[in-house]
Amino acid sequence: MSIAQERRKAVTATAERIVSIIGDAPTVDRLEQAKPHLMALAERADLFPAADFPLPTGDVTDRTYLIYDNAEGAALYAITAVPGMTYRPHDHGGSWAMIAAVQGQEKHDLYLADPAAPGTPILKETLTCEPGTAVSLTPEGIHAIEGVGTEPLLHLHFYGTRFEDQAERTEYDLAAGKTDIFRMEAFGFIVDKR
Ligand SMILES: [Fe+2]
Repeated sequence: MSIAQERRKAVTATAERIVSIIGDAPTVDRLEQAKPHLMALAERADLFPAADFPLPTGDVTDRTYLIYDNAEGAALYAITAVPGMTYRPHDHGGSWAMIAAVQGQEKHDLYLADPAAPGTPILKETLTCEPGTAVSLTPEGIHAIEGVGTEPLLHLHFYGTRFEDQAERTEYDLAAGKTDIFRMEAFGFIVDKR
């Protein structure tokens, strides 16, 4: 079996398992139950060689590869990035999210929306997603990410709703205390590696 075939088999089995655990109720409990499965897939670094998932080059700081999707719209991506990559606070348009690290460290600032001040969500926790750990967000979750450490990043990002359909995604401009609605056109090119 080629690496691509082996990867497809492992990715599909993992993704289907996670989707079946989460079902239509992406609660903290179910996300926690599902996390070890994504972490186990992320441990298979041999399935995600740099030849198939190149790092970004030039001024680009991250690259997105689709590795699984299903008829209900869930999608799993492998994302490569360079240390120093940052993304300001955002939600995922009502989708749950789960992230596990194959390599490299990604700092996550986790926020909760403040109904009294919609432009300035409340920072709840900061943690680092690195090999052996995973981060998840419920549909209400907000996070900001930053590539830290010295090693290039390769992380697996699973969403209940594929990026193209996260139409109402909100981004937070903390300095200005305002929100922006995410435009799909602003998202980089997605490479199909299913
Ligand atoms: Fe995100």
